Amino acid sequence: MRSWVVMSVLVVGSAVACARGAKEASVQEARPVASAEGAAPARPRRIPPTPMKLDTLRREAVAALMKTLEGRENEPAGTVFKNVKLHKTMPAKEFVTMMDEQFGRGLSVNCTSCHMDNGDYASDARKDKIIALQMVRMQRDIDAKYIAKVKELDDPRPKTTCVMCHRGATHLTTEMDVPTAPVPLRKR
Ligand code: HEC
Ligand code: HEC
Repeated sequence: MRSWVVMSVLVVGSAVACARGAKEASVQEARPVASAEGAAPARPRRIPPTPMKLDTLRREAVAALMKTLEGRENEPAGTVFKNVKLHKTMPAKEFVTMMDEQFGRGLSVNCTSCHMDNGDYASDARKDKIIALQMVRMQRDIDAKYIAKVKELDDPRPKTTCVMCHRGATHLTTEMDVPTAPVPLRKR
């Protein structure tokens, strides 16, 4: 009786591990789902691009954009671009790097999640751009109204960034798995 219980726990456990492995594999390889003969053809699943693919797409967008800025890389974003509201004094190159590393990689999205497909970056038509503006305001509030007032913290304190919360996801996880390896320390 007792060995039966142990066995079934093992079986259920490995089934879960298998399902997890299969899920990861399906994200990495965009393989069409085979449909059984006679059955209705399976609708091709839209597989989201991998973070590596997204990095490549953003690098191409950044390269194309930087070409149009030659000689003005260090001028303020507020004068180089048309519709910058919250980072007017940041040098243009630093601003574009922030778009790529924080806004893009930080959320695992392409530039076109927030900007138009035709490269019109000034437009405010995409919902995620409007959300992102509010996220920047929220970060500034967190830094100025709350973190700055926690006097016991070490100096210099890191400023709040998109990566701090998002860590490569648009929707945030609220729980953590039990660690299986030591949690790495923050780089100073
Ligand atoms: C999560 C949303 C988001 C993503 C992803 C994003 N951006 Fe932005 N982008 C914004 C917001 C918000 C602003 C306005 C910032 C401000 O007002 O300070 C902006 C402004 C810009 C501007 C200024 C446009 C103008 O004329 O006013 C450029 C250029 C730009 N982004 C390029 C990029 C590039 C290139 C990428 C990808 C590498 C990218 N963005 C990814 C949200 C995003
Ligand atoms: C203090 C934590 C925190 C920080 C910092 C933060 N966010 Fe968020 N963000 C959230 C939460 C919480 C949500 C809602 C998540 C959800 O819907 O699951 C969210 C949602 C979003 C969404 C909507 C995603 C969707 O698909 O609905 C965008 C876009 C976004 N954030 C962009 C940004 C950007 C850009 C930055 C940096 C400028 C940023 N966030 C910084 C907490 C944060």
